[in-house]
Amino acid sequence: MKVLVTGGLGYIGSHAVYLLIEKGYDVIVLDNLTNGSKNNIHQKAKYYYEDIRDYQKVKDIFEKEKDICAIMHFAGLIVVPESVKEPLKYFDVNTSGVLNLLNVIKDYDSVKTFIFSSTAAVYGEPKFIPIKEDDVKEPINPYGQSKLAAEQLICSWA
Ligand SMILES: NC(=O)c1ccc[n+]([C@@H]2O[C@H](COP(=O)([O-])OP(=O)(O)OC[C@H]3O[C@@H](n4cnc5c(N)ncnc54)[C@H](O)[C@@H]3O)[C@@H](O)[C@H]2O)c1
Repeated sequence: MKVLVTGGLGYIGSHAVYLLIEKGYDVIVLDNLTNGSKNNIHQKAKYYYEDIRDYQKVKDIFEKEKDICAIMHFAGLIVVPESVKEPLKYFDVNTSGVLNLLNVIKDYDSVKTFIFSSTAAVYGEPKFIPIKEDDVKEPINPYGQSKLAAEQLICSWA
């Protein structure tokens, strides 16, 4: 089974790639190296240097690879202070990036699963610890807001 891992050269994504390969999946990595490293490539994974916001390039991967059955979406920008300085950049990658991926995969019936790496930042200042998944989401910075908007997009699409 083929799994596409976006952000698969980053911190969490690269670990996911290693585990997936250990479990016998065929793994395709899409990462534009904004913050990832080529040193993180697993030898058995197939790597595409592309941007999640590029509709045609992402579609080309689906055409070429055929039968991608799941996406694990880790690609994104993650630095809170930077998100305050450059909010549009965060919505562009973290929210529009998801919109672009959904626009591509809606044409591919093979894709049955979309796993989104969101963030606890969607909850803002927690009223109780530990935070529960269904607690109120009130992000206090553009990073959390851009991820919450992506969650909402995915829910509407699903
Ligand atoms: N690290 C954490 O503590 C944490 C906690 C909760 C959620 N998350 C979420 O998990 C995901 C991965 O986090 P991480 O810590 O591994 O971050 P990371 O920066 O190490 O990995 C993100 C990867 O995405 C790639 N990327 C960024 N923009 C891209 C684009 N436009 N197109 C293609 N690739 C792009 C980067 O090159 C990088 O390899 C993020 O979406 C983040 O919001 C992280």
